[in-house]
Amino acid sequence: MRQVVTTGNGGVEVLRVQERPDPKPAAGEVLIRVRAAGLNFADILARQGLYPDAPKKPCVMGYEVSGVVEAVGENTPSSWNGKSVVALTRFGGQSSLVTVSADQILELPTSLTFEQGAAIPVNYLTAYALVAVMGALQPGETILIHNVGGGVGLAALDVARRIGARTYGTASPSKHDFLRERGLDHAIDYRNQDWLPVLMTLTESRGVELILDPLGGGHWKKSYRALRSTGRLGMFGVSTAAGPGLKGKLGLLKVVWSTPWFHPLALMNRNKGVFGLNLGHMWDEGDKVQGWMKVILEGVGEGWVRPYVDQSFPFSQTREAHAYLEGRKNVGKVVLIPD
Ligand SMILES: NC(=O)c1ccc[n+]([C@@H]2O[C@H](COP(=O)([O-])OP(=O)(O)OC[C@H]3O[C@@H](n4cnc5c(N)ncnc54)[C@H](OP(=O)(O)O)[C@@H]3O)[C@@H](O)[C@H]2O)c1
Repeated sequence: MRQVVTTGNGGVEVLRVQERPDPKPAAGEVLIRVRAAGLNFADILARQGLYPDAPKKPCVMGYEVSGVVEAVGENTPSSWNGKSVVALTRFGGQSSLVTVSADQILELPTSLTFEQGAAIPVNYLTAYALVAVMGALQPGETILIHNVGGGVGLAALDVARRIGARTYGTASPSKHDFLRERGLDHAIDYRNQDWLPVLMTLTESRGVELILDPLGGGHWKKSYRALRSTGRLGMFGVSTAAGPGLKGKLGLLKVVWSTPWFHPLALMNRNKGVFGLNLGHMWDEGDKVQGWMKVILEGVGEGWVRPYVDQSFPFSQTREAHAYLEGRKNVGKVVLIPD
C-alpha cells in the first residue's frame, strides 16, 4: 500500500509518500480500499509539531476515509464485502488501504461521490456535536460561526440552517459570495477589520446565542464578550497558533498566555455558558458518535447535509494540499486521493 507519511516536524517538505506491506483485517475489522481520505487542519498542526494528540513521528495521519470494503476479518459480517463505506480512522487514513473496526464504518449514501463521503465524518460530527448537542441551538436563535468557509464551518452552517437559526460567520472576504449562496445570512470580514463591532451593529448590540470558536487564545475572550444573555461559547481549536518552526511555537505560547479563565460566579451572573469539544477524545463513546453519524447520513437524503469538496489532490501532491489549507485558500473540504 501507499501512505502519506509525516516524517518529522516542519514544513511541507517533511511529507513523503511511502510504500508499506498491505495490512490484514483482524477479528472484528474490515479492510478498506481507500478512494478518498479527508485532510484536516489537525494534520497541518501535527506536521508543525503543534498537535499533542498526533502519533509519534514518522506517522500516517488521517481521521477519515471513504472507499470499498475489500476483505473482512473473523467475526465480521461478510455482507460488508464490496460495500462502499465511510469510516472514522484513528490515524492512518491517508493510505491506499486501511483496516478499521466494523463499528467505525457506515454505508456511503448512493447519492455521494467518494470525495464527498470523505468530507463528512470529521467536519459534520464536530459541527453536529457543537451546534446541536453541546450548543443546543434553538430555532430562531442566532449563531456566529468563525472560519465559516472552512470544512467544519460549512458543516456547522448546514446544521444551523436545519435548526432554523439566524447565521453570522467570519471568513476571508474572497469566500463571502460563496457563503451567501450557501445560505449564510451575514458574512463578516475578520481579516481586515475587527469583527466584534460589526457583529454588535448587525445584532443591534445584543450579540448572539451561540459562538463556535476554533481560533483560540484571546479570540475566546472576545467571543465570550459577544454572547447575548443565555449565550454559549463552544471552543474547539487553536488555528491562530498555526505556523512552522519558531513562528508556531511562539503562536502556541501566545495562545496559552492569552487564554481566558471563566469564573463560575461571572458565568452565573451574566447568564453565559462555555464548553469545549475534542472529537478525537470521543473514541470511548462509540455509540454516541455512531448515533450522530446516522442522523448526519440521513441528512444527506433529506438534503440538509451538503458536503462541499473544494479540491482533491492525489497523494503525490500532498505537499500542495497542505499548503492550500495552510494558505487559507480552501472553501470547505480538501481530500487526498491515493494514486
Ligand atoms: N476539537 C475538535 O474536535 C475539532 C475537530 C475538527 C476541527 N477542529 C478545529 O477546527 C478548525 C477548523 O478545522 P478544519 O479542518 O475545518 O479546517 P478549515 O477551516 O477547513 O481550514 C482552515 C481555515 O481556517 C481559517 N484560518 C484561521 N486561522 C488560520 C491560520 N492561522 N492559518 C490557516 N488558516 C486559518 C482559514 O479560513 P479563513 O481565514 O478564510 O476564515 C482557513 O481556510 C481547526 O482549528 C481545527 O483544528 C477541531
